[in-house]
Amino acid sequence: MTKLWGGRFAKSTDGMVEEFTSSISFDSRMYRQDIAGSIAHAKMLARCGIIGGEEAGRIVEGLTGILHDIEAGRFSFEVSLEDIHMNIEKRLTERIGPVGGKLHTARSRNDQVALDTHMYLKQEIAVIAGLLTDLQQAVLDAAEKYPAVIMPGYTHLQRAQPILFSHHLMAYFFMLVRDFSRLEGVWSRTDLMPLGAGALAGTTFPIDRHWVAEELKFGGLYDNSLDAVSDRDYILEFLSFASILMMHLSRLSEEIILWSSAEFSFIELDDAHCTGSSIMPQKKNPDVSELVRGKTGRVFGHLMAMLTVAKGLPLAYNKDLQEDKEGLFDTIDTVKFSLTVYASLLRAMKVNADRMSEAVRHDFSNATDMADYLVKKGLPFRQAHEVVGKAVLYCIEQNKWLMDLSLSEFQQLSPLFEIDILEALKVETCVEARNSFGGTSPLQVGQAITKGKGIIFRQ
Ligand code: ARG
Repeated sequence: MTKLWGGRFAKSTDGMVEEFTSSISFDSRMYRQDIAGSIAHAKMLARCGIIGGEEAGRIVEGLTGILHDIEAGRFSFEVSLEDIHMNIEKRLTERIGPVGGKLHTARSRNDQVALDTHMYLKQEIAVIAGLLTDLQQAVLDAAEKYPAVIMPGYTHLQRAQPILFSHHLMAYFFMLVRDFSRLEGVWSRTDLMPLGAGALAGTTFPIDRHWVAEELKFGGLYDNSLDAVSDRDYILEFLSFASILMMHLSRLSEEIILWSSAEFSFIELDDAHCTGSSIMPQKKNPDVSELVRGKTGRVFGHLMAMLTVAKGLPLAYNKDLQEDKEGLFDTIDTVKFSLTVYASLLRAMKVNADRMSEAVRHDFSNATDMADYLVKKGLPFRQAHEVVGKAVLYCIEQNKWLMDLSLSEFQQLSPLFEIDILEALKVETCVEARNSFGGTSPLQVGQAITKGKGIIFRQ
């Protein structure tokens, strides 16, 4: 296939080099953006008197025909034409003749690819925002579905204090709220229009970048042409957003995997979200959570790769920047899949409330409450801590829980104990008593859920 840039070359490109430098195998997914950008560019060229109105009309018609061909599967992408931009431009000239060659006036592939990528990412951010909101809703629904279930809360993965299961879930909800707000930040800096930067320095033609920006629904434009063609911050920011989001989902995955083990048995995943073993007939594996946890690694990798690609680049465009797309696209696909699959997994998951409450009743996670009891009777916290530490040791020796101690045993530990200690040590009391703002009491969690609904509503 003859090259669009063939004029300066006396020899044809090595086949291996064509394959190595080509990006069509992955950038063809931006065909819609490429065509929409070209249509806006052609219209602008005509409005500014740079090409004729009738010429622009033929270009727009040709591009629209190409769009239909691609969507109908009638377009074959050529590796020898390198990328989506030249595949489409070449076909345009084949369709409408030499006037097609006027489309690239006052434009370079450098600002063209930047435009396409901004537009593509904006479209995908909107989709991801919707999926993220749906996952927030699924988390919130699960929290509302189990308002009274008490479970052990952990630090160091050791039982620490009793908490509401809904409180635990709401922790993830608020992580996802921050993710959403980070995504909004990414959007605002992706919403800048680079076209018109030309190859790097602007153009000699009297173009109207502001009109193009408005036509393509951009909120603003790049102020500097060198920056416009070499900036990949918006991609890096998206990859950072995605990495943090995936890290959250990976933490949740880790908990889901633990909770669905026989050792915990806190939850049961729906059969639809698990797979079996080819050898062990009894197995029901939490593959979805494992894969989300695993795929988090590749998203981190894409962020690191892009940072590394960008770090040594002189201004402005360098071919290295073509490496921005595969990681970005893979991240978009991974995030969309992970969000979708998690919303459905949470909606179908069953909670084993009995197991959770049994776990929390047979441990020492009410020890802090026993110390707080003594503090409320006037004992300094450090001394109370010491007394309860001794009580725990005593219980371990006697093979008992704190709740099993008799009043006289309590009073041997400290004369401050009275009969109401038994009430104070009940897990329900412990949970209810943590009524500080943001705490695990039913009142606080109820307020958090109400606040969460408001956040989703405003998003
Ligand atoms: N396929 C290229 C990319 O993705 C388009 C820009 C090519 N520009 C150039 N001067 N070779 O970056």
